Amino acid sequence: MPSNGLIGSSRKFMAVLDDIDMVAPVDSAVLIRGETGTGKEVVAQAIHDASPRRQRSFVAINCAAIPAALLESELFGYERGAFTGAVTPREGRFQAADRGTLFLDEIGDLPLELQPKLLRVLQEQQIERLGSSRTIPVNVRIIAATNCDLWAMVQEGKFRADLYYRLNVFPITLPPLRERKDDIPLLVNHFVRKFSERQGKAIDSVPDEVMEALQSYPWPGNIRELQNFIERSVIMTTGTVLRPRLSELQLHSTPAEVRTMADAERAHIVATLQETNWVVGGPGGAAVRLGLPRTSLIARMQRLGLSVNPAMQTVRQMPGRSPARDGAGSSATGTPWANSTFNGRPFRVAVAG
Ligand SMILES: Nc1ncnc2c1ncn2[C@@H]1O[C@H](COP(=O)(O)OP(=O)(O)OP(=O)(O)O)[C@@H](O)[C@H]1O
Ligand SMILES: [Mg+2]
Repeated sequence: MPSNGLIGSSRKFMAVLDDIDMVAPVDSAVLIRGETGTGKEVVAQAIHDASPRRQRSFVAINCAAIPAALLESELFGYERGAFTGAVTPREGRFQAADRGTLFLDEIGDLPLELQPKLLRVLQEQQIERLGSSRTIPVNVRIIAATNCDLWAMVQEGKFRADLYYRLNVFPITLPPLRERKDDIPLLVNHFVRKFSERQGKAIDSVPDEVMEALQSYPWPGNIRELQNFIERSVIMTTGTVLRPRLSELQLHSTPAEVRTMADAERAHIVATLQETNWVVGGPGGAAVRLGLPRTSLIARMQRLGLSVNPAMQTVRQMPGRSPARDGAGSSATGTPWANSTFNGRPFRVAVAG
């Protein structure tokens, strides 16, 4: 296994490794594109680990998981009194990543109004905390990732062209697993070893017909889905031969009318939600099965127009694991809302459906 932990030997995957080697030593911005679960975060980490900044922090921020109203203070930090509840000053992720790498995950979800602020910081390499006009120099290497078509978003006016060009200095596109099926046996063996060891099992072989079935399945959730499937299979196996429940793969198989990446993602999320009885959070919820933070899954569902009310379902069914909620009602326009908290700070969310 290579030192960066990335598994694969297909031509498409080797090209990605070459790109990592090429761009790691320089400070250029990198934009990683790829479907869900293709390894965008691990590739970002691998670039940092192979860069001269490796002794410093790799700081990740998921633009889809943090409420838009709080993203600015998360990125740039704030001074005492900058807003109600700001009792002590706090450094933002830019400062935390100083002399290291800042990973801006799901950059396509960065609200339009924040985009010029981010662009300015990237150009000037200095930030101002909320509630202060003092500039603080920062030396940060930026790696951004997205599973959206950012260029299409630029053309639709949803993403600023100037920021797009600033981030897209060195693009890396991760191939979906179905386009590098040669890598599946390698990945399967790697995950079988990993989970067997972790679960104290002695599985040492995968039957040929199992491997063939795994190679012919399209894996809409890519490596994450494969990894979760193998973890489940290892749990269910007694003895030394991997015995997965291959019928599960039929359940998820992509219907013929699925055409776009968004269609595949939507179909996969819906299939998982049906299995969990539309429970999003908690140990048996769809977020865990999909290997996503609950907030990311909800953000994705909203983006894909899945008109369930996931937050409320989670609150009702998993009270201990939901965001704190201290009120709910509806605005003058009739939009339902709920009070919630993020990192201890209150905000109001609109509730869909
Ligand atoms: N080449 C690889 N070798 C081994 N494991 C991998 C590889 N690529 C990804 N993984 C594993 O697959 C899982 C998903 O990877 P990662 O979180 O980086 O994907 P992602 O593209 O960021 O997904 P999302 O868009 O859903 O955030 C992780 O557990 C990661 O360790
Ligand atoms: Mg990711």
